[in-house]
Amino acid sequence: MKINDEYIVRIDKITNLGAGMCKVNDFVVFVENSCPEDKLKIKITKLNKNYANAEIVEIVEPSKYRVSPFCPMQKVCGACQLQFIDYDYQLKIKQEITQDAIRTIAGLNLEVKPTIPSPEIKNYRCKIQYPVSRTKKSARILAGYYKPKSHEIVNLKYCPIQPEVCDRIVEFVRDKAFDYGIQGFIEKNHSGDLRHVVIRHSKLTGENLVVLVVNATKTFDRLNDFAKAIFEEFSEISGVCVNFNSKKTNVILGKKTECLIGKDFIEEKLVDKIFKIGADTFFQVNPKSAENIFRYVKNYLIDNFNNPQVLDAYAGITAFGIVVSDICKNVVSVEENNSSCLLARNIIKSNKIKNIEIHNTDATKFLAEEMREFDAVILDPPRKGCTEKSLDEAFRLSKNTIIYVSCNPATLARDLKYLVKKGAIVESVQPFDMFCHTYHVENVAIIKI
Ligand SMILES: C[S@@+](CC[C@H](N)C(=O)[O-])C[C@H]1O[C@@H](n2cnc3c(N)ncnc32)[C@H](O)[C@@H]1O
Repeated sequence: MKINDEYIVRIDKITNLGAGMCKVNDFVVFVENSCPEDKLKIKITKLNKNYANAEIVEIVEPSKYRVSPFCPMQKVCGACQLQFIDYDYQLKIKQEITQDAIRTIAGLNLEVKPTIPSPEIKNYRCKIQYPVSRTKKSARILAGYYKPKSHEIVNLKYCPIQPEVCDRIVEFVRDKAFDYGIQGFIEKNHSGDLRHVVIRHSKLTGENLVVLVVNATKTFDRLNDFAKAIFEEFSEISGVCVNFNSKKTNVILGKKTECLIGKDFIEEKLVDKIFKIGADTFFQVNPKSAENIFRYVKNYLIDNFNNPQVLDAYAGITAFGIVVSDICKNVVSVEENNSSCLLARNIIKSNKIKNIEIHNTDATKFLAEEMREFDAVILDPPRKGCTEKSLDEAFRLSKNTIIYVSCNPATLARDLKYLVKKGAIVESVQPFDMFCHTYHVENVAIIKI
């Protein structure tokens, strides 16, 4: 096999990174934008030791699961890799991606449950993070998602997976930044002001918190005036914040955020509790689908315990702890992000909850020093998963159950393997569709100790 070789193939499956997979003479080939059961003419674009990458030359026979994407930009924008695949089949793909990880990485012979769909599959995304740049000649602002595998911005005017008001806010920023002397950021030479526009949207109130991420360490008059103009243009905006990020990094938000005008949070409802979400606090991007997960966890606790003591680790704004607090004896929460903990304390107070303790520290360190035992330990780590030490300690502190919530099947499977080796039993793995039309999948694993 060599570069530019062409083959006729049939796609077998979608992998955990969203590409279709097939085999040519037993050699694995990944094909972007393909769908299981597609018959394709492909051309090899990259050859590696154990696999090759290819592009589609021609769709010889389309898969029965192909549909017309509802977004005209789907092919060029890197955000919704699976939007050209029938939604029910997307759910099946996510179940299979999880099943693959459970079988091959965790080595478990466990049937992953069918994916629970998202209640909304359009306008669902409530956290928008558009990178910003500028055109070479006219220096007009560009804002949108990156093209697949590049840092080239698709200047999106309309994105059907986010609330419509977000398009209008971005359009205003794009249009008016120039008038206020705000320059789009050029990554190559690290110049310009505006790096990202971040919007947090509330399904409950329709309000939006706008965060201007700038290449600076303190605010400046042009930016203050611009923030005021954005705030005054939209009755749906609760506040405009600035986040300072002058580092050479791909991380979107810097450490410091200031509110320039209005409020520095929006409110959202999950199950029966009202939450406050700030500029840099973690909150699930799809609140309606998140509600399914929170109900699932709460119902599990109701069905299996009477007045349990629960540890909520990697807690963010203690969303799990707060939602389950009324059926628990007490909840202990641990989270390293300071502003999430401040907000959590505020939410607990406004919801008049008395049985939650919040610890603002590293989860591994906290678990290692904790001496109390808990009926259930909830672990909801970032994509990289848990440390082995935190798994050891969660295992020690849990009398009965670990509920592991994960947005990455590969690290979930790795951590399950580790726990099983220690003697735990994985009771179930339930996928949820939190990120419709992307290859991402959220899972809740119930583990018995
Ligand atoms: C996937 S989020 C889950 C948040 C929360 N459970 C929820 O559903 O809203 C992961 C959280 O873990 C926090 N985190 C990351 N590393 C941590 C660590 N070493 N110790 C404590 N918290 C950590 C992040 O700040 C983030 O809030």
